[in-house]
Amino acid sequence: MAKKISFTLNGKAVNFEVDVRESLLDVLRYRLGYTGVKKGCGVGECGACTVLVDGMTVDSCIYLAVWADGREIRTIEGIAQDGELSVVQQAFVEEGAVQCGFCTPGLVLTTTALLESGREYTREELKRELSGHFCRCTGYKNILKAAEKSLEAGKRQCEE
Ligand code: FES
Ligand code: FES
Repeated sequence: MAKKISFTLNGKAVNFEVDVRESLLDVLRYRLGYTGVKKGCGVGECGACTVLVDGMTVDSCIYLAVWADGREIRTIEGIAQDGELSVVQQAFVEEGAVQCGFCTPGLVLTTTALLESGREYTREELKRELSGHFCRCTGYKNILKAAEKSLEAGKRQCEE
């Protein structure tokens, strides 16, 4: 069964007809062409498909597209502003936290949500928050350093 839904995608209004059984991942990646939304496990285990829904991280492979109706969706394609990398993207580059890049969109989006929460996180809390993401390349040390650097840079920006 098809259903028309409306949502905001990276700041733009989208009206789209979806099958009620379709995942948000399949709609974003395969029907709207947002290939920064990666398909890894497809069962909510690896974090590669993470997007932000009303500012919260969601595994889009296990989130029905119809649930996005009326909501604000952000993907990695909407994180840089005016061609400038966000502080989180910059920190991932500087810390060498990217190798093949498959896990990177999800990690950047989760770190962005943490930064936007305005909370402070200990290293242990950060590890827990990022634990839903699998990286098969870099190891987690640099990713953790990048996340810490992102939150510090975000805090500095707020203080300025
Ligand atoms: S593809 Fe969604 S969590 Fe792995
Ligand atoms: S950089 Fe390759 S999976 Fe993380």
